[in-house]
Amino acid sequence: MLEPSDLVELPLAPDHVQVAMHAAGVAPVDTKLRAGLLQHLLPLSLPKVPGRDGAGVITAIGAEVQGLQVGDEVCVMPGMLGRGTTLACAVLPQQQVVRKPASLSMQEGAALLQPGASAWIPLLRTARIQPGMRVLIHAGSGAVGSLMVQLAAHLGADVTATCRSSNVDYVAGLGARQVIAYDRDDFSAVREQDVVIDLVGGATHDRSYPLLRRGGHLVWLVAAPIRDRGSEFGVTVTRSLIEEDQQVLQQVVDLAAQGVWRPAISAVLPMAEIARAHQMLEEGAVTRGRLVLEIN
Ligand SMILES: NC(=O)c1ccc[n+]([C@@H]2O[C@H](COP(=O)([O-])OP(=O)(O)OC[C@H]3O[C@@H](n4cnc5c(N)ncnc54)[C@H](OP(=O)(O)O)[C@@H]3O)[C@@H](O)[C@H]2O)c1
Repeated sequence: MLEPSDLVELPLAPDHVQVAMHAAGVAPVDTKLRAGLLQHLLPLSLPKVPGRDGAGVITAIGAEVQGLQVGDEVCVMPGMLGRGTTLACAVLPQQQVVRKPASLSMQEGAALLQPGASAWIPLLRTARIQPGMRVLIHAGSGAVGSLMVQLAAHLGADVTATCRSSNVDYVAGLGARQVIAYDRDDFSAVREQDVVIDLVGGATHDRSYPLLRRGGHLVWLVAAPIRDRGSEFGVTVTRSLIEEDQQVLQQVVDLAAQGVWRPAISAVLPMAEIARAHQMLEEGAVTRGRLVLEIN
């Protein structure tokens, strides 16, 4: 039988760091990958460790790593297909690791990078939000949407957002001027938006075209399937591609360090309850931010 002493520790690649994980976020992409729903876009080979976000402490660094040291508290965002963050010890290329702002707890650090990159890239790279632009953000109460509302308001946009009725005050508090409850009110009276950000898809996507001015921009992330009606309404339709680009990750933590945005945590569960965490997410029982797993 194999004993622990038989295991050989491989040397760390020169540009990699080893991180003792303290917390990991559970995102919709984790449940979708696990359920095989993204197999056509992201063909997985098993076994796969889930987790796109996490935070921990560096325990070893490769010979060529610069700007990071053993003992640093960091946030990590591994690639979609690689080994995820729900493990005791992660080994990642330096590009997927950034120092955690001291103002954030480990749990908040584990809820920052994936939603942050998913908010930063659509608003700044894809939609190029400018002061005064009218922007509607669907799902403004979710992990991504709540950061988008905070950043769009900070950039000087006139923000409208949708969420469930019990979250209206919460989303208004994040900086939205107008909040529409999808389970009570009809958002179709909204008009002349410069940008609509769709984090929902399906019927919400379909009904969002008339909200835009001609020449406006509908930006969507992978959610439910969409029907592109851009030419019918004279608007640009773009799927924003989210990647673990180090420059973006640095911008995301800098905005948190400056207090421009703060990641929201819906609940914290022990790592042993990862199956329940996935189930809660799939049942729509997670609201106002990320479910975070604590790793001992
Ligand atoms: N790479 C990518 O393309 C990428 C990256 C990040 C996220 N995404 C996708 O973007 C979506 C949101 O991600 P997330 O991490 O923010 O998820 P999340 O934290 O689970 O939030 C989802 C939110 O959707 C809201 N919602 C549900 N039905 C709605 C409706 N009909 N109208 C408006 N809002 C509705 C809910 O709001 P209430 O709680 O108020 O009901 C919930 O808070 C997911 O589908 C995710 O897979 C894609």
